Amino acid sequence: MKLTQADFQERRDRLAKQMGPYSIAMIATSPVAMRNRDADYKFRADSSFFYLTGFAEPEAVAVIETEDSGTEYTYSLFCRERNREMEIWNGYRVGIDGAIQDYAADQAYAIEQLDKEIITKLLNKEKLYFRVGQRPDLDSKVTMWLKQALDQNQGQAIPTQIQQLDIIVDEMRLHKSTKEIELMQIASNISAEAHTRAMQKVRPGMMEYALEAELNYIFGQNGCVPSYNSIVGGGENACILHYVENDQMLKDGDLVLIDAACEYQCYASDITRTFPINGQFSPEQKALYQIILDAQIAAIDAIQIGNSYKAPHHVAVRILVQGLLDLGLMSGNIEDIIETEAYRQFYMHGTGHWLGMDVHDVGSYKMDGDWRTYEVGMVVTVEPGLYIAPDDETVEAKWRGIGIRIEDDVVVTSNGPLVLTKNVVKSIADIEALMAQS
Ligand code: GLY
Ligand code: MN
Ligand code: MN
Repeated sequence: MKLTQADFQERRDRLAKQMGPYSIAMIATSPVAMRNRDADYKFRADSSFFYLTGFAEPEAVAVIETEDSGTEYTYSLFCRERNREMEIWNGYRVGIDGAIQDYAADQAYAIEQLDKEIITKLLNKEKLYFRVGQRPDLDSKVTMWLKQALDQNQGQAIPTQIQQLDIIVDEMRLHKSTKEIELMQIASNISAEAHTRAMQKVRPGMMEYALEAELNYIFGQNGCVPSYNSIVGGGENACILHYVENDQMLKDGDLVLIDAACEYQCYASDITRTFPINGQFSPEQKALYQIILDAQIAAIDAIQIGNSYKAPHHVAVRILVQGLLDLGLMSGNIEDIIETEAYRQFYMHGTGHWLGMDVHDVGSYKMDGDWRTYEVGMVVTVEPGLYIAPDDETVEAKWRGIGIRIEDDVVVTSNGPLVLTKNVVKSIADIEALMAQS
């Protein structure tokens, strides 16, 4: 399953239509990020740039120019020229001809031509769309180009309105097509397989990074990379929400929390599972785990067309608080605890976020000041948890240092919530059964 140029073109068509007549949009891919001295991180295209172009090389800018109708438009791609010597050292380049033949650009130019060519393109335009405020270097370039276009305009119009391109593109990305959901399903299947392998391979005495390597093995075997830095936290490390050191030993009797997943063709998955390192939950671990699982299952059920974005959170919080009261970890009145958010002692993050090409995907959460409601094709994570700090003296010692989160990825459909990540087990009985066989 691969997106084709027809898919990318259909996205550009929709963008152009929304831009209106006499408009120009510019969108740049990500810069190459340096790791240390001259060693760089593996390049990953900017998600919105890739969404519109399918072009995965660095140093590229896409330009879309509409004419009087707003439906006719010209798509230009500025990219690296082919260069035999550079390609021997650093790998293949699509080049100018390839941009036209294989990436459906109407016009293609060397990236070095951007400063010159963009001035002509700005003439006779009313609106300029770009990603305002994301990269200071681009902001200042755009200001400079506008000034140059003004100086050279010779009576022709130049854009008098600057619009935030992301408002259009983010809304497009928020609603996933059937094909995008298929890609996310593949990313989720591979990620679920990785979690299953981790449950099978874990042993007391293993290092957290060795368990992370088991996940990476499955990602790598499928040509994928993690969609974010993997969290593999044994025991109380699970109480550190963004724990990524992954350098401690996994101990008999502790749980391990793994929040890890891969991306497939730039579409992310995001999964958390928490399971016992020795294969069997202790009574305290079991009690807390079941509360979170109940909260998670009920929260998933709340992902229905028309429900508030916050509905799953409210459902989850109520079940978590009731559970904490039942176990004696909190006391008082449930309504007061919810109202004052006193539960944040144990549950201090939200219950989910949009998921797509970016793990914390684009798309507004509110409209006109209100939480928006679920619509077909939106994808959201559901990830309640409880984290009892190791030094929390308000609770009995037996609870301290337990951290649990369960996270799945859910598509809003007209038939109710579709869980992309169901291939990895999450009930106590299923986890213990899987681990007993390993
Ligand atoms: N893995 C990042 C998150 O769950 O939000
Ligand atoms: Mn998440
Ligand atoms: Mn996660």
